[in-house]
Amino acid sequence: MHCCEPDMYDVQFDAAAADQKLREYRAKGPRGSTARLIDDLGRGGVEGFTVLDIGAGVGAVHQSLLAAGAASATDVDASGPYLAASRLEAERRGLADRVTFLKGDAVRLAAELPAADLVALDRVVCCYRDMHALVQVASDRTRRRLGMVLPRDGALVRIAIALENRWGAFRGDPFRVYAHRTDAVLGVARAAGLDVVASHRGWFWQTLLLERRSGPETPAPRYPQGEGRWVSGSKSGSTSVWSCGSAAAT
Ligand SMILES: C[S@@+](CC[C@H](N)C(=O)[O-])C[C@H]1O[C@@H](n2cnc3c(N)ncnc32)[C@H](O)[C@@H]1O
Repeated sequence: MHCCEPDMYDVQFDAAAADQKLREYRAKGPRGSTARLIDDLGRGGVEGFTVLDIGAGVGAVHQSLLAAGAASATDVDASGPYLAASRLEAERRGLADRVTFLKGDAVRLAAELPAADLVALDRVVCCYRDMHALVQVASDRTRRRLGMVLPRDGALVRIAIALENRWGAFRGDPFRVYAHRTDAVLGVARAAGLDVVASHRGWFWQTLLLERRSGPETPAPRYPQGEGRWVSGSKSGSTSVWSCGSAAAT
């Protein structure tokens, strides 16, 4: 089976995994980088905003934003079981009538995806080989903010991902995790008119918040090509600095 065949996501993110994620989410709510992403996207209020949640899983991001006052959301997910779990939870919380559910690959469904004030890619970019196409679709549809959670650059993370992929290959699993370079991801978003305004790094995941550039006077963050440190300015007054990893990009 090819990496990008939709059925692969139904197998990787199957009913058992969806059930477990839903139980965890109901018991503990959004956690870790997902909770941070929701906070970042919701900064300053979301009253009346629209949301596009790409690869939404059981729906934590858009459901939280809807509960905080967003008007409506589109949940697009390549996994049927995850989409079904998200719908179930939205129905339980009385939010389902404000959500459009789409099953499939967001890149292939691009023509059906609406523009939205807030767009989320929570731990999705690393599931998809064609990073450029996916981030392009998400960026083009972002009216205000794009929030992403993806593996950070760095040797340890790349080793962990390589080991996971080797283990998957050994078991005959076609699913792969992709360690796309952060500067390449941000390059796509920046070319589409978005700038980083906040970032946070955990040991594995990083959370990046981007906003649509208001005009040509907005200073662009500096991202050197290839290896090296990069610095992103933050409208909140803080500045984050880190080093790019040295492993080859996928
Ligand atoms: C690791 S899970 C993350 C789920 C959720 N966002 C979270 O953080 O809990 C990745 C999700 O992205 C979906 N996905 C991956 N690539 C996708 C694509 N190109 N279009 C739509 N969904 C995608 C998968 O089906 C899966 O539900």
